[in-house]
Amino acid sequence: MALSARRAELADAELLRQWRNDPETRRRSFTTAEISAAEHRAWLQARLASERAAIWIFSDDGGPVGQVRVDVDGGVAEVSIIVAPGRRGRGHGKAMLAAAMPWLRRDFGPGLRPRALVLDDHEASLRTFKACGFRVVGPAARGDGQRATMLELEERG
Ligand SMILES: CC(C)(COP(=O)(O)OP(=O)(O)OC[C@H]1O[C@@H](n2cnc3c(N)ncnc32)[C@H](O)[C@@H]1OP(=O)(O)O)[C@@H](O)C(=O)NCCC(=O)NCCS
Repeated sequence: MALSARRAELADAELLRQWRNDPETRRRSFTTAEISAAEHRAWLQARLASERAAIWIFSDDGGPVGQVRVDVDGGVAEVSIIVAPGRRGRGHGKAMLAAAMPWLRRDFGPGLRPRALVLDDHEASLRTFKACGFRVVGPAARGDGQRATMLELEERG
């Protein structure tokens, strides 16, 4: 089923917070603590006000499917992705990521390097990024002892 997408708004705060606080998402994140409503709202407000960040929410006839978020810093766009609990393992992660990458370059400029940081044991996420053209560029240096992999989207043509 085709996915539609739109930019997130402040009215999406609770939906996004539910996805972020889902136990599986937290287990796979670098910071695992639950986020309070107030903290999350402040974080989202800053993201929405920034010209160097975007959150796209994808939906189908069954409702919201997930999000792709980017944070641009210098020439790098850090990409993260969450598929809604209950909608995972059906190709939505790959479809959302593939759709969002051209928008990233359209909205933030052509010279960006899309990058993802993924915990080493997170097979589903590693496979999702690799399936969409990301390649491992090395271990991600972290001060907290967590083992992570850095992937970047390979330039085409
Ligand atoms: C990681 C995530 C975004 C993947 O999205 P998804 O819709 O479930 O994945 P897809 O169905 O598009 O499958 C993508 C790839 O992952 C593989 N995959 C999916 N679920 C998997 C699982 N539980 N274990 C291992 N591989 C899995 C698929 O086989 C596919 O790989 P392939 O193309 O080589 O066959 C989703 O599971 C999720 O939101 N997880 C919680 C949040 C999270 O961890 N985000 C990423 C943080 S780095």
